[in-house]
Amino acid sequence: MNLNIKVQRGFSESARSYDLNCGLHREIGDKLLVQVLNGPKPSAILDVGCGTGYLTIMLKEHFPKAKIIGLDFSPGMLEVARSKHDDIAWVLADGRCLPFFDGHFDILISNLAYQWAGDLTKAFTEARRVLSPDGILACTLFGYHTCRELFQSLDEAKAGTLQFTRLPDLPQVREALAASGFKGPQVDREQVKIEYKDMHELMAWLKTIGANNLPREGFLGPEAISRAVSIYHKRFSYLQGVGATFEVIRVYAKK
Ligand SMILES: C[S@@+](CC[C@H](N)C(=O)[O-])C[C@H]1O[C@@H](n2cnc3c(N)ncnc32)[C@H](O)[C@@H]1O
Repeated sequence: MNLNIKVQRGFSESARSYDLNCGLHREIGDKLLVQVLNGPKPSAILDVGCGTGYLTIMLKEHFPKAKIIGLDFSPGMLEVARSKHDDIAWVLADGRCLPFFDGHFDILISNLAYQWAGDLTKAFTEARRVLSPDGILACTLFGYHTCRELFQSLDEAKAGTLQFTRLPDLPQVREALAASGFKGPQVDREQVKIEYKDMHELMAWLKTIGANNLPREGFLGPEAISRAVSIYHKRFSYLQGVGATFEVIRVYAKK
């Protein structure tokens, strides 16, 4: 199955459980929102990968006169968003191919969606195209080191040739921004560590937020999985359970 369809389907399947399990996403999104609230007053904002609409609705509350659009390629996520607020335009589309005229938005915000774009340069080029001349891109992405303990444990436990495609790293994000024409973007990162009971609990949580669809080649049987669980437990114990790292990359860029 094509990655896009898999990711799209994964998010649609998790749409109903997403809000109950996305505390980490909320914390990261709230900081992103503060950054935007401290900037110039916008008249049109696009939220790319809006999911169930938390940030989009917050933006509508802070900027009631602005035109606010939430865009996502997952019908399930948009259905939940629409059920919360019917006075926002919810658009089903791919963030790499935006159905808007050039220069339409003052702000393009995106919380934890672009790591799924695959071709980041294409996605950022589209973002820049729809921004007005003074427009701002404010986004966060999960980076390469996210769940590094899980990848390491699976890698060490594998019986065959299981290969994962990892999320983009900081230099790739910088390169994609430069290649898309953003000048002097501010890019930084933070690593957050979260405790889970064990590797199973981490994997189950990833499923509830629709983030269990990284492309991979090869197969991991139940024996290899239980080897990975014990490797994870031995090597990455943290507090009462095991630790998982999340690398958050933040971008603030003027067109
Ligand atoms: C982790 S969720 C974040 C949702 C929301 N921004 C939040 O902060 O809760 C990622 C969202 O990005 C969407 N997404 C991923 N790739 C996308 C793409 N290429 N185009 C549009 N939406 C995309 C997914 O469907 C999902 O709803």
